[in-house]
Amino acid sequence: MAREQGSNCRRLNTAKPEVEIAMQSITVRAESADDIKAIDVVHLSAFQGDDEVGLIGELRQSAGFNPALSLVAEFHNRIVGHILLTKVRLQRDHGGVDILALAPMAVVPSQSHRGIGSELVHSAIEGARKLDYGAIVVVGHPEFYQRLGFTPASRWNLRCNLPVPEDALTAVELDKGVLTQGGNVIYPSQFQRVY
Ligand SMILES: CC(C)(COP(=O)(O)OP(=O)(O)OC[C@H]1O[C@@H](n2cnc3c(N)ncnc32)[C@H](O)[C@@H]1OP(=O)(O)O)[C@@H](O)C(=O)NCCC(=O)NCCS
Repeated sequence: MAREQGSNCRRLNTAKPEVEIAMQSITVRAESADDIKAIDVVHLSAFQGDDEVGLIGELRQSAGFNPALSLVAEFHNRIVGHILLTKVRLQRDHGGVDILALAPMAVVPSQSHRGIGSELVHSAIEGARKLDYGAIVVVGHPEFYQRLGFTPASRWNLRCNLPVPEDALTAVELDKGVLTQGGNVIYPSQFQRVY
């Protein structure tokens, strides 16, 4: 998930007026059954290989999946980005709490660097708040997520059960105090195949 994007990513002019025009045409909404193939294409174009497509397919069948937290970005009636939040358990010394894990997310290379990824993350956070989740964790590009309000998980003494470098895990607290006790984020088995 933390792999680099392909080198064929076309870098577009991100001068402010163009960004504003582009973002007015971007719609972010929950996925529908008709979107599944287009979502797969987004991930196939952004990642090398089909691990993420397989992961999303498996997560859709899992208990942690909520279609309201699987969001697509549409640009001129075409799906150009996707983000998924899945319920995971934050295990604490005493008890635990359900939070959300962000993964995977992708924007088609031809539309990257235009703010679509950031818009997807903002919308996902909004969706999580509406459903009363207290925190979101993510494994991947810490610089990208820290620009969007995420903080290194080490700040809360948070870790996870995936074999990833410590600084790859970041988190955003939506409900004050939810992460204060730290703990171990238990990603379900579907994630083990990808990381
Ligand atoms: C990461 C990704 C979702 C960002 O989408 P996007 O629409 O380009 O994001 P935005 O335009 O909102 O923000 C772009 C910023 O994201 C950051 N960014 C993009 N790709 C990055 C990468 N591979 N590593 C670190 N930061 C990255 C940069 O800071 C970039 O800023 P810039 O445009 O000034 O260079 C997209 O590049 C992508 O799909 N990459 C391949 C799949 C992937 O890595 N998914 C995330 C897994 S954690």
